[in-house]
Amino acid sequence: MAGLIPQSFIEDLLTRVDIVEVIDSRTPLKRAGKNYTGLCPFHQEKTPSFSVSPDKQFYHCFGCGAGGNAISFLMDYDSLEFVEVIEQLASQAGLVVPQGNQRDDQKTKQRATIYDLLQKVDEYYQEQLRSHNEAEAAKQYLKARGLSGQLAKQFGLGFAPPGWQNLLHRFPEEEQRKMLHQCGLLVDKEDGGRYDRFRHRITFPIRDQRGRAIAFGGRVMGDDKPKYINSPESPVFHKSQELYGLFEARKSNRDLKRIIVVEGYMDVIMLAQHGFTETVATLGTAINTSHLERVFRNCSEVIFCFDGDRAGKAAAWRALEAASPIMTDGRRAKFLMLPEGEDPDSLVQKDGPERFGQRLQEAQSLSDYLFSQLMQNIDMDGLDGRAQLAAEARPLIQKFPRGVFYQLMVDKLAELTGMSKPDMASYLNTGKKSEPMRQQPSRPQSSRSQNSAQQSAGPGFQNNRPVSRAPVNKGFRQHQLPSLDSATMLLLHSPSLANVAPDLSGLDAENNPELALLIELITRFKQDPQMNIGILMSHWQGTPKGARVVQLASRQTLLEEEMFEPEFLGAIQRLRESEGEARFKALSQRPLKSLSAEEKVELREWLAHRS
Ligand code: UTP
Ligand code: MN
Repeated sequence: MAGLIPQSFIEDLLTRVDIVEVIDSRTPLKRAGKNYTGLCPFHQEKTPSFSVSPDKQFYHCFGCGAGGNAISFLMDYDSLEFVEVIEQLASQAGLVVPQGNQRDDQKTKQRATIYDLLQKVDEYYQEQLRSHNEAEAAKQYLKARGLSGQLAKQFGLGFAPPGWQNLLHRFPEEEQRKMLHQCGLLVDKEDGGRYDRFRHRITFPIRDQRGRAIAFGGRVMGDDKPKYINSPESPVFHKSQELYGLFEARKSNRDLKRIIVVEGYMDVIMLAQHGFTETVATLGTAINTSHLERVFRNCSEVIFCFDGDRAGKAAAWRALEAASPIMTDGRRAKFLMLPEGEDPDSLVQKDGPERFGQRLQEAQSLSDYLFSQLMQNIDMDGLDGRAQLAAEARPLIQKFPRGVFYQLMVDKLAELTGMSKPDMASYLNTGKKSEPMRQQPSRPQSSRSQNSAQQSAGPGFQNNRPVSRAPVNKGFRQHQLPSLDSATMLLLHSPSLANVAPDLSGLDAENNPELALLIELITRFKQDPQMNIGILMSHWQGTPKGARVVQLASRQTLLEEEMFEPEFLGAIQRLRESEGEARFKALSQRPLKSLSAEEKVELREWLAHRS
């Protein structure tokens, strides 16, 4: 693992990597003129709208809006973290990722040793389950619950023996104990001593995406309370991000078609034992958008499978709310609420895999679930009831990204309330708190990802979907001057235009990010003939600038290539004129007395120029 990866290294790497090769080795591409096209791997489609440009080292999907460079492609497609992608690409290119500064190095080293140590703890607990003289009861307990030895092994179940100082004695070095304390496996006593957190419990290692143990859960072998205890947050464990069972699910399935989300450790393991190896659970926290982004990076369908009791229903509703902002086209979410008193673990044992599989097949679609829940307490026969439904559904539906799915929900609500579709559409467009389409789902950032942000990629790059399907457009005007738009677009299509661009330094770009962007692009392209959008995106991924670049670069132009230059120069000329016009207007409207000498000269020149 590297510390701070210098930007220069990332750029160098990107010049050696061919995005067409990277993508083609994962999803087939066909040549189409200068570019390559294929079926988009990020949403389901029958005709190709995914395009890869070898010149720009950039991909874009006209269907779902995904786009970015080789790094973001691999982050999305292989579900890797930024640093992992850099390491992979570097080793393929025969490069060694340079080590960063000392502080970061230390941090990384320390984390590496925490992982090593946690692995030793994991091995220790598993060993105790096999050989500790009090582990028999634990094995009996698991057996009585129907768990096979094979699955217990696959999920690394272990045994924390009774006693307050097992880990303490096992790891006598102060360095190790300090780390165990950091990970919450040792707990402080009032007198300054420490003791083991997990005592006399069956242990469940919680693994990260690479399969490293990062935390543990522990269950009593009976009815004592608390039933489960879990590792607290630590430098390597962030509950709000991790999904129990995801590593095992990915290991068992080369190609995940769907992911089942359940509530408990035992649910995950027992479903896996019955062949539903695509199951994950949150770690005693409510499922959030960041969890679901992770799920959707692995497959396009999620089935929430929760208990039918009050707690289960509440969890399902929270899941619906967490999913709504990221339900882009091609993604599906379904709900399977189990009969009261059952959980997935008990039911799959009662049902058997076939019947349980059938239930999954029949799971309710998100929209059916949403409306059925809302309508539960509404009398739909009267006008009042329908108005109430519309009012309650509106803020929920407004959270969904615009697309096919949104449209279906609008239509459905229209049908249920007896409103016409156009009326419903405009009803849903009013009373909004904000424009949902432009909102990125908020993601709690782990210190791990913050770390990779410092790797120089810039803010947002650590995010899971670096180039948003819903572009962040903060600061950019919605309606651009057409000439400014087209100048930037042409420049992105053909960076060598930077060399013929006239000087724009006289224009006031301070309050116009769009113009500032054009000027910055010209400067960068001029400075570095190797520069392309792929490299630019390694600076700007996830920023408003990056999103704008993706938008403009993805725009098609009908112009022949030899028209690029005259069109570009013409656009810049028009731009200068209109900017000049605006300045002239501003100056001419001010009282003459208030103008400085230079401004007066400027105004006079303008008048002369115009006549
Ligand atoms: P459940 O009680 O549904 O878990 O709680 P389960 O896996 O079905 O438990 P058993 O073994 O079959 O009885 C769901 C999840 O909530 C967290 C755990 O992550 C658990 O898997 N939990 C529950 C705790 O953290 N502490 C508790 O005391 C109970
Ligand atoms: Mn259970």
